[in-house]
Amino acid sequence: MVGSALDTTPQVDSSPEEARARLADQLLADGRITSPEVEASFRRVPRHLFAPGEVSVDAAYADDVVITKRGPDGRATSSISAPWLQAMMLEAARLHPGGRVLEIGSGGYNAALIAEVVGPQGTVASIDIDSDIVANARTALDIAGYPNVQVVQADAATGWLAGAPYDAIVVTVEASDIPPAWTDQLAPDGFLVVPLRMRGNTRCLTLARDGDHLTATDAILCGFVPMQGAGANPVTRRALRGDDVTLRIDDPDTRSLNLDALTPALDGPGVDAWSEVTVPPATSFESLHLWLASQPHPYGLLAVDRDRTADMDPQNWVSCPALLTGDSIAYLTIRQLDDTTWEFGARGYGPHAAPLTQHVVDLITAWDRDHRHQPGPDIRVYPTGVTIPPTDQPQLLVPRHHTTTAITWTTGDHR
Ligand SMILES: C[S@@+](CC[C@H](N)C(=O)[O-])C[C@H]1O[C@@H](n2cnc3c(N)ncnc32)[C@H](O)[C@@H]1O
Repeated sequence: MVGSALDTTPQVDSSPEEARARLADQLLADGRITSPEVEASFRRVPRHLFAPGEVSVDAAYADDVVITKRGPDGRATSSISAPWLQAMMLEAARLHPGGRVLEIGSGGYNAALIAEVVGPQGTVASIDIDSDIVANARTALDIAGYPNVQVVQADAATGWLAGAPYDAIVVTVEASDIPPAWTDQLAPDGFLVVPLRMRGNTRCLTLARDGDHLTATDAILCGFVPMQGAGANPVTRRALRGDDVTLRIDDPDTRSLNLDALTPALDGPGVDAWSEVTVPPATSFESLHLWLASQPHPYGLLAVDRDRTADMDPQNWVSCPALLTGDSIAYLTIRQLDDTTWEFGARGYGPHAAPLTQHVVDLITAWDRDHRHQPGPDIRVYPTGVTIPPTDQPQLLVPRHHTTTAITWTTGDHR
């Protein structure tokens, strides 16, 4: 019984070369790598040299995040991102030999991948706010053979003017806003690749200049450690049932609601409603989350401890969209109908659970009818003060300090 609890055969790690080749093959097969330049970089850069010493070779080359530092609360403050996401971000940045690139958020590995693609004629600067991360990145880059990658301790908010203009700025930390330094330091035809949090939902956007604003050409579902320093803007966490049920809230209107009544509401009976909108297993429906976030309605993301509160049964235990009133909540659920079919629904608690739950179901139906089979919403980032053109399409505006992001759900002829 290979790999069973009874198996006493010692597990032997692959060699770094074997593990690296396997990872590159997998990223190619999965369609994460699409260019020969990015493929060559993954085949060359020794990822294990950037991981902490206790991380095995196989773990370093797994298609997963490697945590490199945690804060006092135990949450990760730095990591080497998952290879699939690094590959997609490098492809999104349209890197080319001779390119000038700024990486925001260091670690060394991703900067080395970039250095391989831009080659000896290109330049790579990487900035991080944390002096430990800067020091470790410098050491690892030197050992791995990338002395020309510049690593600097600096706050993302100011970018790194010395190396500008950049053909690409690759942000590897969750941002809630786009500081002016990033657009100022971007070349006219440059690409800004940034994991932007929009009402709690983070998408890695590929942004390009489009007149007086930036337009996203791509939006990848992702998660990153949160921004520290001048641009720090953490979500508010509201404990509804101790730590077993919590809500993440990312907008001032929902934050200002008194949600105390939600705690007793969760002890009452739940109301279920089903949408008849179905999905086969292993199918992406991430635009449904962003669609529910885009409604003009108080909104949060629910996290439920599966072991302790299994009866709540949200569609996603870690991050489940929920619409709120002061005293009621309704969130997305899913149930299995047969081997190949799952159905979306909603579960509500509180005095207004029935209409709120029906509202979520109506929104699921509208998503299925109008948006599910479209390429995704139109996402544009406007500097504060620039007039955002009016629209008759469903639209979420995410106003931050420096910018407002407009997420517009166009259909058919409007697109
Ligand atoms: C996911 S890690 C970077 C991963 C890295 N690019 C790699 O090679 O995979 C995110 C980094 O962002 C850094 N960071 C957080 N806030 C920052 C800020 N305001 N300015 C610069 N770096 C910041 C953290 O210290 C952390 O090291």
